[in-house]
Amino acid sequence: MAVKWGVIGCGGIADRRTIPEGFAASQEAELIAVQDVDEARATAVAAKYAVAKVYTEGVKLLEDPEVEAVYVASPTASHHQYVLAAARAGKHVLCEKPLALNVAQAEEMVAACKEAGVKFGVNFMMRFHACHQYLHQLIAEGKLGKPVLGKAELTCWYPPIPGAFRQDPAQGGGGALIDMGNHCLDLLEYLFGQRVARVSCFTANLVQAYPSEDTAAVLAEFDGGAMALVNALFNVPDAAAKNMLVVYGSRGGAWAFGTIGQDSSGQVHVTLEEEEAAYDAAQVRTGSGGEQTVTPEPVNIYRAHVDAMSRAIREGTEPPVPGEVGLWSQRVIAACYESARTGQCVEVQP
Ligand SMILES: NC(=O)c1ccc[n+]([C@@H]2O[C@H](COP(=O)([O-])OP(=O)(O)OC[C@H]3O[C@@H](n4cnc5c(N)ncnc54)[C@H](O)[C@@H]3O)[C@@H](O)[C@H]2O)c1
Repeated sequence: MAVKWGVIGCGGIADRRTIPEGFAASQEAELIAVQDVDEARATAVAAKYAVAKVYTEGVKLLEDPEVEAVYVASPTASHHQYVLAAARAGKHVLCEKPLALNVAQAEEMVAACKEAGVKFGVNFMMRFHACHQYLHQLIAEGKLGKPVLGKAELTCWYPPIPGAFRQDPAQGGGGALIDMGNHCLDLLEYLFGQRVARVSCFTANLVQAYPSEDTAAVLAEFDGGAMALVNALFNVPDAAAKNMLVVYGSRGGAWAFGTIGQDSSGQVHVTLEEEEAAYDAAQVRTGSGGEQTVTPEPVNIYRAHVDAMSRAIREGTEPPVPGEVGLWSQRVIAACYESARTGQCVEVQP
């Protein structure tokens, strides 16, 4: 039986992606209620997706006994209060990233859900991209050899907008790094099967006139030895953004463009060697198998996560991307900000 979901925060991501591509498309989920502080928005989204129940105040949606699970897609500063209230009300939660403004809030959210016995997931939906699933398997099977280095970037042209929560650290927890860099770092951790151990990070405001950083560059070392370069930018034109992902291992490399983001389609270019090669002074770059272009059948990333989270709720299994992953991401991002502030390389605090 489909899980009965409510959505809190009917703005950009909910209306553009997660409701139409996730909840409305899923056979395992049924959207029965929406809530937003903006009544006109809540009413319009309810009408658009034929949702009968509309709430605008307090935690009304969480008091609805019919609602089994809630997707929290309101601005980041409000996640903490809604997730704690959901846990108190015995509702399962899928929360948008970043989980919270800081590590302390995210810890409380994970602890509250655990104590209440409700499932808690974080929407790092890029893990579900068919190209990323392909790379994950390639690396897990050892076909890339020992993971050596990853590069991941996510950008968005984001000029000043009055009231935009990402442009005020008090509302968003930071800027491009916590908003987009966290996706990149999470994805590389997922692909490598390793955790970020320490980081050096620079942040700056190079173009946009608001308090949050519009530029973040991270150099990360993972606990399994791999390294990564990640950048998140609010200040380059969308048309110029390639949202590049590169992973190198001792037996090969893989490159994808545009798979990091909200789209579900894409290709990966892969070059693999049968084994770690002897030194070749000519540095022939074609590889024993040549370069292959892999185009996996696209899987909608929002639907895949809503499906998987709904199944976890029904079957009583672990969420596909547990809240603990969101808490860990919060720790990694906090280490990045501390590095940017102090100019030091910072270890992620477990
Ligand atoms: N995973 C993804 O692909 C993805 C993409 C974009 C945004 N996000 C995350 O989703 C969240 C929302 O981002 P967005 O871009 O949709 O924001 P948005 O500003 O477009 O929409 C937020 C909505 O929440 C409503 N709102 C504001 N305060 C509220 C409150 N206290 N209670 C209930 N509703 C409230 C607003 O009226 C608005 O409709 C953020 O945490 C963001 O980081 C995730």
